[in-house]
Amino acid sequence: MKGNSEIIDALNGLLAAELAAMDQYFIHAEMYADMGLNKLHERIAHEFDDEKGHAKQLIERILFLEGKPDIHTRTPVRIGQDVEEMLTNDLQLEYEVGDALKAAIALCERERDFQTRTVLMPLLTDTEQDHAYWLEQQLRLIKLVGRENYLTAQM
Ligand SMILES: [Fe+2]
Ligand SMILES: [Fe+2]
Repeated sequence: MKGNSEIIDALNGLLAAELAAMDQYFIHAEMYADMGLNKLHERIAHEFDDEKGHAKQLIERILFLEGKPDIHTRTPVRIGQDVEEMLTNDLQLEYEVGDALKAAIALCERERDFQTRTVLMPLLTDTEQDHAYWLEQQLRLIKLVGRENYLTAQM
């Protein structure tokens, strides 16, 4: 089905962010494994899978709308130097993805593409209620129990 080009462009913009999130979680998951922080490794490796799922949904939808998925472009990937910076950079990325999703959902409503809106809503739920929420919790826990105690619990 021939899709609206503005919506296809917005979907490609979202794809660039999901691919960047995939890359960032991929490297952060390996860094946690290397540090011996196995709980963080497992959680972030799972986020990597979620982002891959999001990218897949976007690619499927772009193809359905007869667009061309852009798999070369990435929004900036920010690798952290320590655990707090890794969590903070991941949270920043989730906030940016959330804002981009909301803008794309608003565009879908304006253009009356309700089916694309339906595809995007679960991505927003994962982004806000799962990924960002969990990252906010971790940063709060570090403040609450101290970095050493937090890291001990992640081994
Ligand atoms: Fe995502
Ligand atoms: Fe995410």
